[in-house]
Amino acid sequence: METLKNVNDANLVLILDYGSQYTHLITRRIRKLSVFSLCLSGTTSLESITRLNPRAVILSGGPHSVHTPDAPCFPDGFLGWAEANGVYVLGVCYGLQLLVQKLGGEVRVGEWQEYGRMEIEVVEGGDGEGRLYGVDAVGMEQTVWMSHGDEAARLPEGFRVVARSRQGTVAAIESTERRLYGLQYHPEVTHSTLGMETLQHFLFNVCGLSPGWKMEDVLEQEINVIKDLVGPNDHVICALSGGVDSTVAATLVHKAIGDRLHCIFVDNGLLRYKERERVMSTFESDLHLPVTCVDASDRFLSKLKGVTDPERKRKIIGGEFIAIFDDFAVELEHKLGKKPAFLVQGTLYPDVIESCPPPGSGKTHSHTIKSHHNVGGLPKDMKLKLIEPLKLLFKDEVRELGSILNVPQAFLKRHPFPGPGLAVRVLGDVTQGNALEITRQADEIFVQAIKDAGIYDSIWQAFAVFLPVLTVGVQGDQRTHSYVVGLRAITSEDGMTADWYKFQSEFLDNVSRKICNNVRGVNRVVLDITSKPPATVEWE
Ligand code: XMP
Repeated sequence: METLKNVNDANLVLILDYGSQYTHLITRRIRKLSVFSLCLSGTTSLESITRLNPRAVILSGGPHSVHTPDAPCFPDGFLGWAEANGVYVLGVCYGLQLLVQKLGGEVRVGEWQEYGRMEIEVVEGGDGEGRLYGVDAVGMEQTVWMSHGDEAARLPEGFRVVARSRQGTVAAIESTERRLYGLQYHPEVTHSTLGMETLQHFLFNVCGLSPGWKMEDVLEQEINVIKDLVGPNDHVICALSGGVDSTVAATLVHKAIGDRLHCIFVDNGLLRYKERERVMSTFESDLHLPVTCVDASDRFLSKLKGVTDPERKRKIIGGEFIAIFDDFAVELEHKLGKKPAFLVQGTLYPDVIESCPPPGSGKTHSHTIKSHHNVGGLPKDMKLKLIEPLKLLFKDEVRELGSILNVPQAFLKRHPFPGPGLAVRVLGDVTQGNALEITRQADEIFVQAIKDAGIYDSIWQAFAVFLPVLTVGVQGDQRTHSYVVGLRAITSEDGMTADWYKFQSEFLDNVSRKICNNVRGVNRVVLDITSKPPATVEWE
């Protein structure tokens, strides 16, 4: 709830999450229609819901049956509150069944299990106030995406069926008088051909919302919130990774409080080819951010010498990073005569949502799953208050915000890069031979070729890996005994699952030749053709 303290939007649409894999998609679709929407756990208290004062609430789908004893549900008094306050409620899939059951109708295990694409027909429409499908909709057929076992067998009083599937099951219901609606299918997925239109009609014509949520306003609001929070005298620190999230977060905070923001960028010796120069130039020349660049490569590499275990590598890198960050804060305190009071973090909305998983999902705090992606976290005993200006935004929205803040497009579109850097791309000891230099050069050739081929934006992440394996080769009439470089390029939505990118063979041929001809110490190039799972993205 702390996260939502500053939410104040007269057109808010709240999604109550019952665990459907599509719940976030509903939130995103609604935002794409320029209406602010937030997703909360399906069992959020009535007080928390009413405090946000939403104009409409959508009950999401979910894997449960309303008949199971611990089936999750909205809090007692929710429907009464909605009715009394003119709040519109739309149940989607499980959400529809919840409405039916709670209001005295009957939900039973369907005769037909309906999964996947399905034809439905609008059987009642009309131009009365607040109809789910609006004028001229009767007889209209559409393909929708169903995914349910249970079905509504008898509707509560005052409801009517407004669409049915080919098999005759209930596909949509409404009680315009009570402002309650239900869709048995998922309008938010693209397989539902008129899904977006239906959502749009519901929001604008039924609920009477006005589209007006835009990134410029989000920016202005965030700036005001940060100004208020930090006040006129306090100082703020931020660790920049060179990635999109921390850069956009820092740029935004800088706009709010100027040079009372103090950023640090650590060169840990595990960065890509010319990475330090490249990101520092963006920070300084494009964004005018106050950044201290600390060259700590020797410090990191001497600690990593001889270490081959990936977990130990991560721990060492995390620990060293914290020590450097601590030193930075102490130095600042000396310089400013007071301790910095705040820390900026580039937390995104999916992390916030994931940290309060939907009821019955069996998931606990998912931060543990992701912990390896943040290098060891930041010092806990520094007692800094957090500023997380991106915590209600999705990645594409952060990019949009970055654009408004003049972060260069090429920077906003960069592939993700792991916090422990090349340590998870050089297998084994990172200080062996010329491993880091080989990885940097091979990676640069590969990624540059991808950019030249115009396919960088179709690939989610691409990089080269160093394999500590010596193989025999023949180069310039001489036998060589050199290392192997692995190439990995994936397509993905979010990095959680991934497929390998299918290059044209000519492209691969050129890259392989270029690497062997230009990178000393390499005589063999291999391509990773594994998806995730079973593999991970990084090789470690
Ligand atoms: P994996 O290898 O876990 O990668 O399948 C999924 C995504 O996360 C990135 N990744 C990391 N990012 N620190 C990070 O900041 C890490 O230790 C780390 N390990 C993986 C990886 O590059 C991919 O985008």
